[in-house]
Amino acid sequence: MDWIALYPTWYDPAMGSGYWIALIATIHVVFSHASVGAAIFFAWLINKAYREDRPELLTFVKRYGLFLLIFSYVMGSITGPGIWYSTTVGSPKGISALIHSFVWKWATEWVFFVIEVVGVYMLIYLVGKVDKRTHTLVAFIFAGASYATMMLILGILSFMMWPGSPEWFAKGGTFYSFFGPNTFAQLLIRTGFAMAITAVVGSIVASAFKDAELKREVLRKLAAFGLLGSVIMFVFYFWYLHTIPENAVEVFRNRMPGWFYPAVVTSYGLMVIYFLTTLFNTRILNPVLASIMLVVVTFMGLFPTEITRESMRKPYVAGQYVYSNQIIARDVPGMDIHAELPKVAEKGILKVHPFLPENYRTITDENRLEVGRQIAIIMCSNCHQVTRTEGIRPLTDYLGGVTDVARIKRYLQGTVVAGNIMYMPRIPLKPAELDALAAYLADLNAHAH
Ligand code: HEC
Repeated sequence: MDWIALYPTWYDPAMGSGYWIALIATIHVVFSHASVGAAIFFAWLINKAYREDRPELLTFVKRYGLFLLIFSYVMGSITGPGIWYSTTVGSPKGISALIHSFVWKWATEWVFFVIEVVGVYMLIYLVGKVDKRTHTLVAFIFAGASYATMMLILGILSFMMWPGSPEWFAKGGTFYSFFGPNTFAQLLIRTGFAMAITAVVGSIVASAFKDAELKREVLRKLAAFGLLGSVIMFVFYFWYLHTIPENAVEVFRNRMPGWFYPAVVTSYGLMVIYFLTTLFNTRILNPVLASIMLVVVTFMGLFPTEITRESMRKPYVAGQYVYSNQIIARDVPGMDIHAELPKVAEKGILKVHPFLPENYRTITDENRLEVGRQIAIIMCSNCHQVTRTEGIRPLTDYLGGVTDVARIKRYLQGTVVAGNIMYMPRIPLKPAELDALAAYLADLNAHAH
């Protein structure tokens, strides 16, 4: 058999698989960062409370800790597996690439995660029940374990963008896949984000305190913590852009609209202004305003890095060798991985896809449109809306309403099939396949309203 390793495509015509993954991941990122930031803040606050003999500060640890348990840990534990489920069906080859390189890193991360969960319970329920030293020690272990989970996951995440160092392609192995300047730049940006989001979530809890003096003090500490976080994010975002390989920067430059940079600077600027305002005027804060700010800061804090990351790694989904449409584009000798693209080019996707109904493998006048639709779903739907004329990057948008099959064919031949577009995979369709795709797209245009 000439099959290559492909799975059935998960196609959601309304939203697209990519946006489902993004939605679940965004929720997860908020909760997980809120817990890492809180762990650091707790360690500092608990240490301070015992040193200066100010047990009232522990009230915040107790209240916020409980809130965190429900808010972060329950939601984080639901959306975490949610990412696994959605990426496994949305991008099985991408997730497989990560598992093959990082299975032990993930296992290690789980160990730290278990320590973290036990730690947060201990921290909250042992307030006042154990001696100062033990409680402080628990706080520091909790903070260390939280940060370790973030660091481990980040090494894996940044591999999606780019393997730690270019030697990885030839040599393989953890050392080259995991560590790289890009990993550390991301770690620092996320540390800043964790601090900022903790400041906002913490102020939802602290602004409800009855004791005015305690409320003011905790809110100010949180604002300072958030301010520091925003500055860290801002500074390291620009370092991050320098750790990206040249071709990715090129893609980024060409694809980003002119307003993107000003929008990034404005987002960070607004965060700084918000924290400065609350630092000097804690009275304006109440739980409602703080909750609204949570949504705003989530958006402002995540938007620059996430959009940048998503746009720059195109057309790949992982390690600069798995295309978003799941086809392996290049050899990776270090991991004994062989490119599948040449086989697709030689035999045609209809012959090498293991999950295609037999009657679609050969194109006839009767099945042409249906096969064209299947090709669009398999090869393009990861990044484009392919069955309607509206939605996310609809394919028909690039065809200007043309219904002339020969014209569409010529255009796709020169762009997609030739592989001339840097942010899109090369898609080597056989002439009959291109014919079917063009016929289907012409038909879609003809029926567009
Ligand atoms: C890895 C994701 C990805 C896949 C898979 C993909 N595209 Fe694209 N494609 C893009 C992106 C990103 C753009 C740029 C969109 C923009 O800037 O509006 C694009 C643009 C295009 C354009 C416009 C080209 C231009 O001059 O900018 C055409 C035509 C196109 N895609 C067709 C296809 C077809 C047909 C398929 C499947 C056979 C496909 N694409 C698969 C990501 C993808």
